[in-house]
Amino acid sequence: MHAAVVAAFDQPPAFESFPDPSPSGPDEVVVEVLAVGLHPRVRSQADGSHYTSTDDLPLVPGIDGVGRTPDGAVRYFVLPDTRLGSMAQRTVIDLRRSIELPSDADPLAVAAAMNPAMSSWLALRRRISFSPGQRVLVLGATGNAGRLAVQVAKHLGAGQVTAAGRDAGLLTELPALGADRTVSLLDTDALGDAGSDVDVVLDYVWGRPTADALRAIVPARRNDSQPLTWVQVGSVAGLESPVPSAALRATSLAIVGSGQGSVAPRDILAELPELAAEISRGSFRICVRAVPLAEVTAAWSDAATARERIVLVP
Ligand SMILES: NC(=O)c1ccc[n+]([C@@H]2O[C@H](COP(=O)([O-])OP(=O)(O)OC[C@H]3O[C@@H](n4cnc5c(N)ncnc54)[C@H](OP(=O)(O)O)[C@@H]3O)[C@@H](O)[C@H]2O)c1
Repeated sequence: MHAAVVAAFDQPPAFESFPDPSPSGPDEVVVEVLAVGLHPRVRSQADGSHYTSTDDLPLVPGIDGVGRTPDGAVRYFVLPDTRLGSMAQRTVIDLRRSIELPSDADPLAVAAAMNPAMSSWLALRRRISFSPGQRVLVLGATGNAGRLAVQVAKHLGAGQVTAAGRDAGLLTELPALGADRTVSLLDTDALGDAGSDVDVVLDYVWGRPTADALRAIVPARRNDSQPLTWVQVGSVAGLESPVPSAALRATSLAIVGSGQGSVAPRDILAELPELAAEISRGSFRICVRAVPLAEVTAAWSDAATARERIVLVP
């Protein structure tokens, strides 16, 4: 078969022949891959920078996808940490880490949206105690996961959603997705005001912008004892952030992370069906660009700047 193959961490994957996979346990089957999202998590898998990476090469990247099983069912699947990922004509899935999709589901939409949508869905449903009516601030709302976070928060009953981002043009699109307010990440006064009464922050940026946001928001809190749950979800602006210590003392601030590891695998699996059903019924607006798997090397460089989620189609 053919697959996207990473031979060195400093080079993008190339479309090459690769040994056919075979199942090794009673719950495993080989699927014909239909669609695979090129998520930031997959880019860090392929360049060796993700916290789960090992030095083992070559590897086929891809952490999830949509595939057809030998009995003809179309399933969304999540892969374990493996060197045989989903960016291949065929891959091995564990049926217990997959769900059958509704017959009208669009494989491209599901492959594009499950990973970015899961970031906010799991954070609000499994990582923190979120109640309908609470106010949510999304830091870094202009990316795929941030745009979905605005929609997911609204869908799950947020009383108010504020979208913060650095791209002024893209911010203007967010009210149409459900944002009640938008604010520039670069305008710290406005950011402080926007964060003065929120209950939850979904943070996709981290790095310096998060420290700046905390410096603006903490002094602006209207009620210091109102709980503020700051959920670290992404780190597009830096893996480390110089969080001011006083922020944790001056207000009722709790910083937690949400992702693979901090949310139990069984909780992640339990949420897949409902989220896939919402995506399949078109509850969220999703931007997708389909690219043939054979063009994976070019897609890799496009993904660095693409607004849409690139989905590779074998
Ligand atoms: N924990 C989880 O479960 C989970 C799941 C999925 C994704 N994530 C993480 O969430 C993050 C976003 O993923 P994504 O799928 O939305 O990626 P994406 O579609 O590539 O979007 C990234 C966004 O980050 C913004 N950005 C980049 N550098 C920035 C900076 N220095 N300051 C402010 N904004 C910056 C860009 O904003 P501009 O519009 O200004 O260029 C872009 O819109 C990634 O770190 C990803 O790994 C986490």
